[in-house]
Amino acid sequence: MTLGLLFFAALCILVNAEDVHKKNCSPLYSTECVVHSVAVEPCRHGPKFCAFVAGKRYSVSVNFTTYFTAENLKVAVSTDYEDSGVLSVLKTYKDACRSLLMCPVEAHVRHSFEVPLAFNKRVQGKFPVQVKLWNEDNESQACCFTFKAKIK
Ligand SMILES: *[C@@H]1O[C@H](CO)[C@@H](O)[C@H](O)[C@H]1NC(C)=O
Ligand SMILES: *[C@@H]1O[C@H](CO)[C@@H](O)[C@H](O)[C@H]1NC(C)=O
Repeated sequence: MTLGLLFFAALCILVNAEDVHKKNCSPLYSTECVVHSVAVEPCRHGPKFCAFVAGKRYSVSVNFTTYFTAENLKVAVSTDYEDSGVLSVLKTYKDACRSLLMCPVEAHVRHSFEVPLAFNKRVQGKFPVQVKLWNEDNESQACCFTFKAKIK
């Protein structure tokens, strides 16, 4: 019974979480970090973009390797609603080492973290979402990627 439930839960996760296509924010960070995969749960219409419903809760799981070691990290989730290059921050995790990750994050070791994602009801259309993680002690050490979101 318990095993059956576990299997069912695992199946649901497999069906729902999908790796979404991601882009580096800037070539600057490609020498600092590799983002291996980004899974959005749930990601309807993936993997090119994820369709979201305003007001609902989603999560973004990031699997990455840094080339730096850090003890203090920040994470910010931003969107570019107008797709015009202007980001607005949805949420900043100032103490990501407490809320999202186990620190220190060691260089050359795969790590992962998960951030919640939700859009308010005013938003509509297709636009990029940016997730950035950076070393508070040296801001040029960062992981940063975007993926496409569509809100109905
Ligand atoms: C990252 O992804 C790889 C390959 O899917 C997996 O083996 C590994 O466990 C993941 N690492 C973390 C920290 O989740
Ligand atoms: C900050 O990080 C960059 C890129 O890794 C490095 O070149 C620089 O030396 C670092 N600065 C300090 C003060 O550690």
